Amino acid sequence: MVIELAGVRKTYSGVRSGHTIAVDGLTLAVPRGGVHGFLGPNGSGKTTTIRILLGLVAADAGEVRVLGAEVPHELARVAGSVGALVESPQLFPAFSGRRNLQILATLADLPTTRVDELLEFVGLRERADDRVKGYSLGMRQRLAIAAAMLKSPELLILDEPTNGLDPAGMVEVRELIRALGSDGRTTVFLSSHLLAEVAAVCDAVTILRRGQLVATGDVAEVLAMAGGEGQLRVGLRDADEVARAAGVLAEGGFGATPAPPNGLVVAADDGARVNALLGAAGIWASELTAVRPDLERAFLDLTAEGEATA
Ligand SMILES: Nc1ncnc2c1ncn2[C@@H]1O[C@H](COP(=O)(O)OP(=O)(O)OP(=O)(O)O)[C@@H](O)[C@H]1O
Ligand SMILES: [Mg+2]
Repeated sequence: MVIELAGVRKTYSGVRSGHTIAVDGLTLAVPRGGVHGFLGPNGSGKTTTIRILLGLVAADAGEVRVLGAEVPHELARVAGSVGALVESPQLFPAFSGRRNLQILATLADLPTTRVDELLEFVGLRERADDRVKGYSLGMRQRLAIAAAMLKSPELLILDEPTNGLDPAGMVEVRELIRALGSDGRTTVFLSSHLLAEVAAVCDAVTILRRGQLVATGDVAEVLAMAGGEGQLRVGLRDADEVARAAGVLAEGGFGATPAPPNGLVVAADDGARVNALLGAAGIWASELTAVRPDLERAFLDLTAEGEATA
């Protein structure tokens, strides 16, 4: 595991606002490899958790391990293998992208030999000698990711790296993160409040709501869990057939609800099986369509405030 949290809790006490429980008993294990999304709405505790992982704020309770080292006491042992990008990157605008990486490498006592390779990797080779102040936001962000990669980290922690970027910049940074996650050496832990981003770049995801874990696992698994099982829309001839089909499907173990005018929505992923059951009963569906689970809806449901809604 590259990240292990057990019962982690962090409360901030504000002068006016009283106590805010930012992280509320969070237990989480992130396995090595790929891109792990850390998804939650604004204020759900993502940045606080990341700051705890990096030893920037102390947890009030719980255990934290990064690359097997206990945080904060043993963090120094693994700090050289953990790259991070939290909040806006510290770059020197008057210097070129290449010079920035060289300076940052030297300051961190790292070899400058990887600078060119990294510039190439983040797609800045051609702009490497231009001043950073002329870079777009997306280019700066890619340079900052290159800076975090200088130490060839085993774990790269990125806190909302596409925040503030335009759609093209977002795509560039996402592609870069995908490439990082598939190189096999770096595990990326990526926070985001955008479900689409996590769906696009992550292999696994943890969903956070009000400092608590709502779901964790492979992206497909978690989304399936969130969206319930798949659904099929079945089109039929008339109300009579709808009633007969519902009966046949119920016997076959499928729940079905009427979908006017003459259809059924069936809780099932396996269209062939539904079709076969109906066919065996002499019912020929005029339509059989998978209803795509609405991912955005699923995320909102999982992170909703928890009031019962009818
Ligand atoms: N330094 C602080 N002092 C007081 N309260 C804080 C502090 N940092 C965070 N909080 C509060 O803790 C809660 C969690 O904040 P956090 O920044 O961890 O959430 P987040 O998931 O990163 O949100 P966002 O998506 O907006 O970045 C929020 O209610 C926030 O107001
Ligand atoms: Mg944040």
